[in-house]
Amino acid sequence: MKTRHDSSLSVPQLPVNRNFRTIAVLTSGGDAPGMNAAIRAVTRYAIAHGLEVLGVMKGYSGLLEGQMERLSASSVANIIQRGGTILKTDRCLPFHKKSVRREAANRLRSHGVDALVVIGGDGSFTGAHLLEKETGIPTIGVPGTIDNDITGSEDTIGFDTAVNTAIDAIDRIRDTASSHDRIFIVEVMGRSSGFIASEVGLGGGAETILVPEKKTTVAEVVRAIERGIRRGKTSSIIVMAEGEKPGLCTKLAQAIEKRGYPTKVCILGHTQRGGSPTAHDRVLASVLGASAVAYLLSGRSNGMVGVQGGRIRLVPFEDAVRGSRSLSLDHLDLSQTLAT
Ligand code: F6P
Repeated sequence: MKTRHDSSLSVPQLPVNRNFRTIAVLTSGGDAPGMNAAIRAVTRYAIAHGLEVLGVMKGYSGLLEGQMERLSASSVANIIQRGGTILKTDRCLPFHKKSVRREAANRLRSHGVDALVVIGGDGSFTGAHLLEKETGIPTIGVPGTIDNDITGSEDTIGFDTAVNTAIDAIDRIRDTASSHDRIFIVEVMGRSSGFIASEVGLGGGAETILVPEKKTTVAEVVRAIERGIRRGKTSSIIVMAEGEKPGLCTKLAQAIEKRGYPTKVCILGHTQRGGSPTAHDRVLASVLGASAVAYLLSGRSNGMVGVQGGRIRLVPFEDAVRGSRSLSLDHLDLSQTLAT
C-alpha cells in the first residue's frame, strides 16, 4: 500500500526508558507568540504519559524563588491561541553563576522534579546545559524566540508570527508611502541577526533589505533608491534589522534626506513579540513541546529539540549555543530584483 509521505513535522516515536514522575516547564528570555502552545503541549503530552507537571513562573528567577505550581490539563485550556506566556518570563543574569544554578537544582529536587523543559532562546539554553552538566538534572530546550537565530534548528517558535506581524505593518506603511511619494525605513527586531529582516523584506516587497550580516553603505542604499526612481517608482520601502546598535535607522534616514529624498522611519519594536500565534507556530510549538517530553522519557536530554530537513532532531546544547545560525543573503538580492 502506498504510504502517504507526510512532509509535516511529527513527534519522534521513541521508547520510554525512564520512569519519571514529575517534570517542570518554564519560559525564559524574550517571549514569543506560540510559547503558550508549547506549554500546553508539554503539559498535556506529559500528563498523557502519566507524569505530573509543575509550571515555573518567571523563568529561572521564579525557579530560584520556588515559584512553581501544578499544571493540570485544564490549566492549559484555551491558551493555544494566546500570545505571550502564562508562566511569564525573565532574563535571569544571576543564573550565569554556578552557585545559583546549584540552588536552582535544590529547588527542583525539593519539589520532586525529575527533569526540566526550558522554552526559550540560546541564552536560556546555556543555563539549561550547565544546570544538567553540573547537577545531573536532565534538561531539554524548546526553541522559542522570534529571532530564529539558533544554531541547529531551521525554525523557532514565534518567528513566523513575528514575520507576519511585520509584513502586515509594511502593507499599511506602503499605502502612506505611495500617497506621499516617501521613502520609509522599517526597523524590525532580530537582535544581532537578520532572519526577520530577510523574510519580512522579501515577503513585504521591500526594495532594500539591510542586515547585520552584510555591510551596506549609504551610497549603495541611495543608488538603489535612484534605480527605482529611474524605473518610475515614487516611493520605496527599506527593511532594516535593528542590529546591535539602536538608532541606526534614524541616522540612515537623515543621511538619505541629506541627499534630497524625504525619508521617514517606523520602528516596529515589540509589536513583533505579541499577537495570536499563526497556525504554523501553533503546530511547530505543539510538535516541539511534545517531542521534548518524548526525548526526556526515552532517557535523552542536555539538548534542544530542533527542526532539521523537516524533521525533529535532538541537537546537543553545546551545538545549539555555539554562535548564531548563519543567514543566507539570497533574499536580499532577490528582493531588490523583484522590487524594482
Ligand atoms: O530575542 C528576542 C528579542 O525580541 C530581540 O529580537 C530583541 O532585540 C530583544 O528580544 C529585545 O529584548 P527586550 O524585550 O528585553 O527589550
